[in-house]
Order: sequence, then structure tokens, then C-alpha cells
Amino acid sequence: MAAHKLRLGVLGSGKGSNYRAIQDAIDRGELAAETAIVISDVESAGILDIARTRGIRAEFLPPGKFRTKLEPEAEARLVELLRETGVELVVLAGYMRMVKPPLLEAFPRRIINIHPSLLPAFPGLEAWRQALASGATKSGCTVHYVDAGMDTGEIIAQAEVPVLAGDTPETLHARIQVAEHELYPRVVGEFAARRAGG
Ligand code: GAR
Repeated sequence: MAAHKLRLGVLGSGKGSNYRAIQDAIDRGELAAETAIVISDVESAGILDIARTRGIRAEFLPPGKFRTKLEPEAEARLVELLRETGVELVVLAGYMRMVKPPLLEAFPRRIINIHPSLLPAFPGLEAWRQALASGATKSGCTVHYVDAGMDTGEIIAQAEVPVLAGDTPETLHARIQVAEHELYPRVVGEFAARRAGG
């Protein structure tokens, strides 16, 4: 019998390069996973186009009136979409809103995020810009479980990159993203392998 494929629900607000890296690894047959649905709070987000181009269900979820979180009705709809598509692991890939209890309680220890710094350093927005401004000589990215805090959940894995003389926020973020695109598929693959094995 074919091994179980871990069903992913991917949430993102932006261009979706981390999702693309994960989907590329799936499409190459490297991960025992499949993307059940991609959901964005931004109608024009590139992440939705990437999913649609590959024949993956992609949904825009109108977020409501708040800037940093979903309205309760939207969060309830999000949980419903993830449940009805049989999602087992929720993968935040550039999702720029806080996750609230309805979603946290529906997927305990089954929501992961990638953040562009070596947490606990530089939580929050534009972490690469914060790293550069602080004079840090190294930065990187972190995959962590999501909890109710901002980038505070238990750390699963990290990758380091150097901060180089002459870096701009853009060059540093680009270097961090190269590391993200290697780290995130690898971590998702580890979750998938555990699911397939057990
Ligand atoms: C990534 O660098 C990710 O780490 C960051 O947003 C970018 C999304 O890029 N996420 C956060 O800052 C979350 N706090 P992508 O849309 O190309 O994957």
C-alpha cells in the first residue's frame, strides 16, 4: 500500500516563495505530503496564483476589519475550510496575521511557521531589517510551532546565514530566503515521514 501522504493546509499573505519551495519538493516526489488547500487573506497574493497554476485548491478568505488578525467569523471559516479538506498540518508561509484560539485549538501542535530570524531574536515584522539595524553578524530563519504569542512557539529547526558588510535589507532578506527554501521543505518532510511511519 502506498504510504500515507500528509495533508497540508498552507496559509500565506504574500508572494509564496516558501510555499513554492515546498510544492516543488512535493512535485519532485521528495516529501510524503500533498497540499490540500492554500488560503490567503490577500486576494492578489502570489501564493494563490502558484497554487492555481498547479491545480491546487486556492481560496481567498476575506479577513474582515482588523489588520493583525482575522475577524472571528473569518477565523471560524478558516477552521472549517481546513477541516473539510482533511488538513493534518497547517503550514504558515508568509502569513502575516496572528493565529487565534479557534485555529490553535482545532490543530494543537499541528501549526508551524517560518520566521526570517534566529528566534528568539527579532520577532515581528521585517526581522531582517531589525537584524541589520542591530549590527548582528549572523541571522537566519526559524521554523517553530505556532502558539498565541508573536513568534514565541517552540523552535523546531533553524538555519544560519551571515550578515555581510554592505548588506542592505533586501540582500540580507534574499540570503535568508535561500535558507528558508531549504529548511522549510526539510522540516515539512520530517513531519510527513513521521506520519507515514506511524
Ligand atoms: C518569508 O521571509 C517569511 O519568513 C516571512 O515572510 C516571508 C514570506 O515570503 N514571514 C514572516 O515574517 C512571519 N512573521 P514568501 O511569501 O515568499 O514565502
